[in-house]
This record gives sequence, C-alpha cells and structure tokens, in this order.
Amino acid sequence: MTRIEDLDTPAVVVLLDRLEDNITRVQGMISSHGLLNRPHIKTHKIPAIGKLQMKAGAIGLTCQKLGEAEVFIDAGVCDDLFLTYNIIGKRKTDRLMELAARIKRLAVVADNETVLRGLSEAGQRHGRDVQLLIECDTGFGRNGVQSPEAALELARLAVKLPRIAFEGLMVFPNTAPNTFEFFTRAREIFGKAGIPLPVLSGGGTPALNKLGDYPMMTEHRAGTYVYNDVMMVQSGVATWDNCAMHVRATVVSCPTANRAVIDSGSKVLTSDHYYVEHYGRLVEYPGAFIANLSEEHAVLDFSQCKTRPKVGEVVSVIPNHCCSVSNMNDEVHGVRNGVVEVVWPVAARGKVR
Ligand SMILES: Cc1ncc(COP(=O)(O)O)c(C=O)c1O
Repeated sequence: MTRIEDLDTPAVVVLLDRLEDNITRVQGMISSHGLLNRPHIKTHKIPAIGKLQMKAGAIGLTCQKLGEAEVFIDAGVCDDLFLTYNIIGKRKTDRLMELAARIKRLAVVADNETVLRGLSEAGQRHGRDVQLLIECDTGFGRNGVQSPEAALELARLAVKLPRIAFEGLMVFPNTAPNTFEFFTRAREIFGKAGIPLPVLSGGGTPALNKLGDYPMMTEHRAGTYVYNDVMMVQSGVATWDNCAMHVRATVVSCPTANRAVIDSGSKVLTSDHYYVEHYGRLVEYPGAFIANLSEEHAVLDFSQCKTRPKVGEVVSVIPNHCCSVSNMNDEVHGVRNGVVEVVWPVAARGKVR
C-alpha cells in the first residue's frame, strides 16, 4: 500500500472523492437544464476518467485533436465523439475518416470553406458521411464564423456538398459576450432558410452556473470541471474543496526568512497565468503565493504568512490551469483517504497532431 506521503515529488495527485463528486454534480447540473453532457477530455486525457464520465450519464465526449481521439477510441471509451478542431490536409482527413469508421458518430467542425471542402473530399474518398457542425465566434476571438449570416452562408454550402451531413452550430465558450444574441439570430435565419439545427453545442466550465442563460443549446461541453483549478475558483464556479488535482512538491530551500523554493517549476505546474495572479495556491499555507517559476523551481513568498515550511517538507499546490499540468506529466496518482488507489498514465498527453 502506497500512502500519499510516500510519493516521490513532484507528483500529481487526484483526490478521487472530489473527482467523483465533480463528475456527478456537473452531470446533474447539465441534465437539470435538459442538456446533453459531452465533457471535453482535454483536462484529464485519461480514458479511465472518460469512462467515469460516460458512466455518470454523458452522451459522448469531446476531443481537440485527432491523436486524442485515437487514444480514446483505442481504449473503447465511447462511440460518440466530437472533435472541435478544423482538420486540414489529406493526411489528417484520412485519419479522421479511419477513426469515423470505428465508432457510431464522429462529428467535426469547420469555420471556413477550405476545411469544409477538404472534409467533403475525404468523405467521398472513404465513401462515408462527415457529421459537421459550424464553429461560431461569439466574441471569444478565436476560430469561428463571425456572424449568424456567415454561419448560414457556410451551412448553405455544407448542405450542397457531397458526403457532408450538416448537424448544427457550436461555440466556445458560452460566456463570450454575444452568444445569446448570435444563437437567437442564427435560429431565426436558419429557420427561414429551411435548414434545421438539431445540434447547438455550447461549452466551458465557467458557463456551468449560467446554463439557463442559453436555453437554445442542446448540449454542453465542460472540461476543467473534472479537476478544477485556481482559475475556476476565481471564476466562482468551484470552491477550493472542489479542486481534485494537487501537485505534491518538496521544499528544497529556504534561502531567506520569507522565501522558500519547491521542486515543481514550470515543467510541472506550467507558467500559464491567463487571468489569475501568481502560479498556484498552496493548500497548507493559503497566505503564501508562488511568486516566480523557472523550469525546476517555484519560488514561494511567505511575507504575508505567520508560519513557514522547513526544508524537506512536502506541500500541495492547486495549479492555475489543471489541463496544462495534465499535458506535462506522465501519470497521475488517484488518492483516497491518504492512500494511492490507482496510478493512471496520462495516455493522451502530448497528442497535439
Ligand atoms: C472547444 C472547447 N470546448 C470545450 C472546452 C472546455 O472548456 P472548459 O475547460 O472551460 O471546461 C474547451 C476548452 O478549452 C474548448 O476549447
């Protein structure tokens, strides 16, 4: 039996009671709004956790990359996947079609004519329809058609092209400023054009508290909720007690009265900031903060803390952005009541193609 304190550091641990609670609670939130739940696997990248999400009631899963989809299909996690990324070029569209042949439904997005035509050609090459949603940018400023009218124009092409099965629209995140107006207008003009929109797919963990604000959606894709992190606590959608991922790290130096250094730097915690200050929260010393990161060092500031750790002490860090931590670490340790119950390889780690 391995106890949590026996783990060599740095070690990523997942508190299993919290993980299970997050999966059940969020499934309940999404179902209570009459929405289908399609969790995004980018946060955990672990087939066994995908299976827990499916068992709790998810309709299917979301992947960002073909390589992730390959891992999850190989592991037999589910037969309904949504790949929310423009797939470009023969090499990739062939892989897409090979994967599509292995499960019941593999839907994909397009936000431009080049991608759409490439998917149609791949469908014709492989003699199989491509389930397609159009990605919409409702103010996030990433991929996506820029207006409901542009979505309709692309959809008119989609319904004409061979081997494209047009299913609807998707957006990330729901909380982008114009989602409600964009989707309301889209439904109106698609209705007039006689093009049905059976699937309207929204996403994001911060939107979980606001699902009722987007009544037109049919499904929701949240990812980060499974572990939660500093960003999610700061967005008000999770508490510290909902944070299932902790990075265990050893204090390797206390060079001044107010400074300590731990053995988890940017290679474990990542240097992701997004909209939060500092580099993670110390569970045992909530008044301290991680002021700086280099690759193998995190520099902690204890100037606002009454107590300080000693060299050799192990502390737990709640990372700013748990999804990137998954991508940086080979395995996570599932812990319950202080005992390591399971070690999961992060099987889809680094699958960026
Ligand atoms: C397309 C898409 N859908 C869903 C999600 C999940 O969002 P979150 O991690 O906020 O739960 C992401 C996250 O990056 C995403 O890019």
